Amino acid sequence: MRAAASVLVTMATAVLACSREPEAPPAPVWERVQADATLEEGRKVFVGTCRRCHAYGLEGAPRVGDAEVWRARVAGRPEEALIQSALTGVEGKAGGEMPARGGNEKLSDREVALAVRFMLAASR
Ligand code: HEC
Repeated sequence: MRAAASVLVTMATAVLACSREPEAPPAPVWERVQADATLEEGRKVFVGTCRRCHAYGLEGAPRVGDAEVWRARVAGRPEEALIQSALTGVEGKAGGEMPARGGNEKLSDREVALAVRFMLAASR
């Protein structure tokens, strides 16, 4: 009987503790994108290689999810031009650098292209 009571007390304490916890922050934008199979592949590449700089705009990297910044970059340029930059790298004007293939030489052309498509989809 005593054991049962102590289980009840433990449960009640757990429930109280939970209800007092602050709300979890929203998931980052790259986790919220609705993705088909192709975009899903791009998301994996993004998380594995590109997120490091593009999640929070490290070294002036355009931040994923910042629609305004990406709109300005895309303006009048075909998607291919952005993919090309990601493949060859860009010497950033603000001192930051976009390394070729995000610094991951193991990525194929296709994987880099999918990551760019994913980043654009996450930044509309
Ligand atoms: C070490 C940090 C870093 C990593 C890792 C990184 N980037 Fe970047 N990226 C940058 C910076 C900095 C810029 C901005 C360069 C500039 O000023 O134009 C940039 C710009 C870009 C652009 C815009 C290029 C343009 O022509 O406007 C694309 C697209 C891009 N990155 C894709 C990627 C992809 C895809 C990956 C992963 C495979 C990746 N980046 C990984 C730092 C990074």
